Amino acid sequence: MGKKRLFTGLQPSGQLHIGNYFGVLKQTVEMLKDADGLVMVADYHALTTLKSPDELRRNIADVVRDYVAVGLDPKHTIIFQQSSVPAHTELAWIFDCLVTVPFLMQGHAYKDKVAKGLDANAGLFTYPMLMAADILLYDTDVVPVGADQKQHVEYAREAASKFNIAFGETFKEPQEKILDDVAVVTGTDGKKMSKSYGNTIPLFGTKDEITKAVMSIVTDSGSESPENVYNIHRLFKSEDELAPIYKANKGKYKASKEALIEDIEAFVAPMREKRDSVTDADVKTILKDGAEKANELAENKMKDVRTKAGVTL
Ligand code: TRP
Repeated sequence: MGKKRLFTGLQPSGQLHIGNYFGVLKQTVEMLKDADGLVMVADYHALTTLKSPDELRRNIADVVRDYVAVGLDPKHTIIFQQSSVPAHTELAWIFDCLVTVPFLMQGHAYKDKVAKGLDANAGLFTYPMLMAADILLYDTDVVPVGADQKQHVEYAREAASKFNIAFGETFKEPQEKILDDVAVVTGTDGKKMSKSYGNTIPLFGTKDEITKAVMSIVTDSGSESPENVYNIHRLFKSEDELAPIYKANKGKYKASKEALIEDIEAFVAPMREKRDSVTDADVKTILKDGAEKANELAENKMKDVRTKAGVTL
């Protein structure tokens, strides 16, 4: 038995926070140590919401730096941009022709948009078929993602099965590996840490930014120990290490927050240093190598797909 094929993607949509790291990235890096992996920057997915070329360009490079900083090795894992492998949009079109409008109307992202009274663009509507193409092109076994992406992997299985039934066995049905349950990270207000709640602590922030975020953690004046501070702190230190600190700081929230800032800083500093050492030229080289390798795999698969669908004479 060969190694499992792992595939995951991240939208280049802004700064990572410690919830992203402990919820998804840390475990993905761990899993990639003994898997054969591809990690994709989902730039065409980002285009469904982002209409600012400069920002998109900056975000794409940032995602590559983030991946390297958290420990991905571009020599071992293929890191690439979705837009540099044309097979993704090509296969997405073929899937679009196999699924129905009512089926896509069940999509959470689409439904949420409509529920808010907003007009969804057609790209958002067919988003799940582009994601199915991402995953299925590489005969993926496992897709590590947060809980919010579960439905998308189910859509990918459906797309695989629809193609296989229509044109013959071609695609492997992938499994999601939901990482959210392993470490739900609470935000500065005690709810789940999420960019959309505005309660995050940036992963690669400066010390000032980290300090500002930690100082804004909501503390419950009724209790002796600040629960929201502790919940974040236990990601960085064991309960045994934390017990004496919180005992000594009983009733003194500021002291606990200061201890947390020091621990975050100690943890993040080496990663931040690594991140800063990745030059623009490094980013380009990583993406160029990744595109070559991904294109080779994807093109190979597409030859079979085009023949089966009947467009190759
Ligand atoms: N939709 C994912 C997100 O927003 C990003 C993504 C695109 C992805 N293609 C993927 C994740 C394929 C896993 C596999 O987070």
